Amino acid sequence: MINKDDIKQILYGGDYNPEQWPQEVREEDMRLLKGVSANVVTLNVFSWAKLQPDENTYDFRDLDRIVEQVSANGMNIVMATSTAAMPAWMAHRYPDILRTDFEGRKHRFGGRHNACPHSPTYRKYSAALAGKLAEHYKDQKNIVAWHISNEYGGRCYCEQCAKAFRVWLKDRYGTLKVLNDIWNTAFWSHTFYDWEEIQLPNALTEHLEEKRSQFPGITLDFYRFTTQSLLDNYRAEVKAIRSFIPDASVTTNFMGHYKELDYKAWAPYLDFISWDNYPAAGEDPADIAMKHDLMRGLKNDRPFALMEQTPSVSNWYTYPTLKRPGEMRKISYQAMAHGADTVMFFQMRQCRGECETFHGAFISHSGSDQTRTYKELASFGQELKGLGEILGTLPDAKVAILFDWENWWAIEATPGMCLELDYVEEVKTWYRALYHLGISTDVIGCEEDLEKYSLVIAPDLYMVKKGVAERLSTYAKNGGTVIFSLYSGLADENNNITQRGYPGELREMTGIWTEEYDCLELKKTDEIPDGLEPEETGLNSFYWEGRDYACKHVFAISHPERAEVLATYEKAFYAGTPVLTCNRTDRGNVYYLGTKCGPDFYRDFLKKIAVSLGIITGDAAVYPEEIEVTDRSNGTYRYTFVLNHGRKSISLPADRRLCGLDMLTGKTITQGDALNLDAYGVAILRSPQ
Ligand code: GLA
Ligand code: ZN
Repeated sequence: MINKDDIKQILYGGDYNPEQWPQEVREEDMRLLKGVSANVVTLNVFSWAKLQPDENTYDFRDLDRIVEQVSANGMNIVMATSTAAMPAWMAHRYPDILRTDFEGRKHRFGGRHNACPHSPTYRKYSAALAGKLAEHYKDQKNIVAWHISNEYGGRCYCEQCAKAFRVWLKDRYGTLKVLNDIWNTAFWSHTFYDWEEIQLPNALTEHLEEKRSQFPGITLDFYRFTTQSLLDNYRAEVKAIRSFIPDASVTTNFMGHYKELDYKAWAPYLDFISWDNYPAAGEDPADIAMKHDLMRGLKNDRPFALMEQTPSVSNWYTYPTLKRPGEMRKISYQAMAHGADTVMFFQMRQCRGECETFHGAFISHSGSDQTRTYKELASFGQELKGLGEILGTLPDAKVAILFDWENWWAIEATPGMCLELDYVEEVKTWYRALYHLGISTDVIGCEEDLEKYSLVIAPDLYMVKKGVAERLSTYAKNGGTVIFSLYSGLADENNNITQRGYPGELREMTGIWTEEYDCLELKKTDEIPDGLEPEETGLNSFYWEGRDYACKHVFAISHPERAEVLATYEKAFYAGTPVLTCNRTDRGNVYYLGTKCGPDFYRDFLKKIAVSLGIITGDAAVYPEEIEVTDRSNGTYRYTFVLNHGRKSISLPADRRLCGLDMLTGKTITQGDALNLDAYGVAILRSPQ
């Protein structure tokens, strides 16, 4: 879609579900949508029951009317396939379509996103519907993309899934001997002699709790398998669509760092990444930025689509807080700043009833064009019309952070890891520091090409999958700088622990041997222990570059082998042992930080490294906390987005980076001028590259 040559404007609009209303309302909708300059609608996300009243009948008449109406009003269409909520008759006649949950309860009809991925009924009818839709709409020129199902997710623990899991395992491991070895089943008398003996890991089997498993290796494989199961459902629909429209552009809407699906495994099968951004009120803008970069990183060579966000309120939060005036615009520009080429929403008209009744929409229950939200959307829609030239440009990052779903699963499922530590939080910690230094970052998988980066950060790389150590080490030997932190290099891709001394395959590269990890309950937050023992506070500290930094949660106890020791613990029985090291390779550097610090350390540390690598200059401006500065570029122009995430207006003295033509005001900013931003204000500065 976003690569379609004839799209010259940012796609602006979103989910439109007019099935709920009569024709008069739909006509009024057209007037109102034109009033905000909407140029795209996502149709047909949840209409399966209407489209297919029984096994053999397909009825697209109402959808035809909607398609005609939006097309006559000049809008593009993202056509969804409607397969994320099954019809009641299907569940009633074919109960194999219903999921069994983690506790082993077989569900009945109700809700959505709930089909068993291995149900023969679901497989047959979901692909059939996608095919029928494609056949029916193959000549509809304003369909710019196909949106498969909706927000895939969840897991099913039914017998047909168990059967499919055993087949998947046979395929992966060939023999039970190999499987028993990889799963280390000699532990707790788990040796399997027949594939049929293998059970799905849930509350009835290996999980005393949802996260941790008694056999993390089994859990890890099951998560891989469920990623694949849902991906197979997706691919079956894509195949059905492509049999009628060979060049159909396809996607499905992702959900940021959603744990249950390894989106990296999905990315090759999407023509472009699209995702739904629903930050909580007050969520750290750096964390939202990180999600955008993670999503973009799944297909790093092209922009992504912001498929959904709310114009005003998400009704499923405990406190459904309204977006403040200007906030919708600002948060939309933030998505664009990180590579979104669309600004789309859920939804166009507020529902008449049921659980999304009070969710925000372009058109509210009042139907009025005088609401605050509507007026803001209308003026924003006008503004977006002038920004088409940004389409296709991309951020140009010199720093990459590695993010790996399987590593995340393994860390969480394995008892012994500090529960206070959260993998995503650790990634965010590093990301936030870069964000506040104004450094663009790609968040990418472990398999990506690293050569274009000056710095690669691998937070909490507990699991080192095949080939990853070699690639990182080659990168460092060729002059790259790598940073590892916390639990690094403990396990292989099957969660089997290295017998070569931690950090295993990373030992040579880091030049350290980590003997063990201490873990303390945090009793005082982030303050340097004042004469108290770590056992009393949960904190330790170290001295680096002229000051003390507190550290907490996990304390790797390491021995330098080749690495230079940059800082040592000041307390506990391991006082004097290294906490921060650097191993200088032929031309690069490999750092290891064995603990978790407060934000000030990451900022100071990364600033020093970024300056030494020429990523930023020593005198680079440090912008106020609430200001975000990021760029997109295309080789000819650089578009610098300056976002004020604060609720107060601010005046920034323009440095070199904040110069150019502000595309939103038409004013040229030169060095030394004041760049004034209102509360939630935005500037997009265009400058030649
Ligand atoms: C998700 C779904 C939509 C809708 C919105 C509401 O993103 O895809 O169908 O439920 O949430 O926030
Ligand atoms: Zn199932």
